[in-house]
Amino acid sequence: MKLYLYTPMKIVEQLKQPIATEMERFEEKFSNAMRSQVALLNRITYYIVNRKGKQMRPMFVFLVAKMLGKNEVNERTYRAASVIELIHTATLVHDDVVDESYQRRGFFSINALWKNKIAVLVGDYLLSKGLLLCIDHKDFDLLEIISVAVREMSEGELLQIEKTRRLDIDEAVYYEIIRQKTATLIASCCALGAASVHASTDGIAQMRAFGEDIGTAFQIKDDLFDYGETKIGKPTGIDIREKKMTLPLIHVLNKVSDKEKKWLLDSVRHHNKNKKRVKAVIAFVKQQGGLDYATKQMHAFKDKALTQLRAFPQNEFRDALEEMVCYVIDRKK
Ligand code: IPE
Ligand code: IPE
Ligand code: MG
Ligand code: MG
Repeated sequence: MKLYLYTPMKIVEQLKQPIATEMERFEEKFSNAMRSQVALLNRITYYIVNRKGKQMRPMFVFLVAKMLGKNEVNERTYRAASVIELIHTATLVHDDVVDESYQRRGFFSINALWKNKIAVLVGDYLLSKGLLLCIDHKDFDLLEIISVAVREMSEGELLQIEKTRRLDIDEAVYYEIIRQKTATLIASCCALGAASVHASTDGIAQMRAFGEDIGTAFQIKDDLFDYGETKIGKPTGIDIREKKMTLPLIHVLNKVSDKEKKWLLDSVRHHNKNKKRVKAVIAFVKQQGGLDYATKQMHAFKDKALTQLRAFPQNEFRDALEEMVCYVIDRKK
């Protein structure tokens, strides 16, 4: 019999172990932070709190804070974690309106249940609650970090729409879009974790750079999911329908013949709602090595993130962060 040596991948719940107490307190604070006088809003936020996601962003906040803060976190760290998750939730609620997507975290999205009008307003409400949480406690350094991320995320989403209309996206533009729409928020988690325990300016900047690379790897992984068949709690195969060109397709466009390129672009431009044609495009991208290439790039960003992390002294939280980085690219949803 052949013996296989392997390290089983940790699931997200196991990764939370070193920060279990913090995550428990965070959940309570997060849910309180959403509370409103309006019954309809409370019904919706209750729905959101009961369908929590992986909570990777607060995890990054706590792990970074504990790595740099000698195992200590403080109330600022909790507020940073809540703000980040509030803003992340707001952007998901808005994103599902923009992408006309009706499933999120294995359930109906807010726009599917309450329609666009309400989803837009709920997203705005969550965003304002996040910013106010910082303002109410005069955490202006944290507010600055988070506000930059909010601006960049909106710019990233709009850049994506602009490129979607013209279909002229190349690899550099792709990285710029995902840096803005996704990586900045994860970069902010790491910067906030550091800032919350009063790390040095350099320390905050290093953590931000680390987060940006993880965030980029994270979005490449998300875009790879769209080409797969795995059930991930949100729809797959919708990027091409939305004329969204991601790394696998961009890479293939760059290497095929003019005729094939014309067929690909024509499919995305004029046949994006035709399920059979979209399937054919997905199959072609796979066969031409688009997924392999994107996977390779994702690993390159992961390795860069790990190198940056290893510049910090080793401790149990740095080890936990290393595991988080691996989870980002190995995760199943
Ligand atoms: C989804 O983020 C949005 C992207 C930036 C791709 P997550 O995959 O972290 O979402 P949840 O919070 O776990 O649902
Ligand atoms: C990432 O966008 C989410 C945000 C920046 C808000 P996507 O549209 O790629 O993310 P999913 O796949 O719907 O979560
Ligand atoms: Mg989406
Ligand atoms: Mg989107």
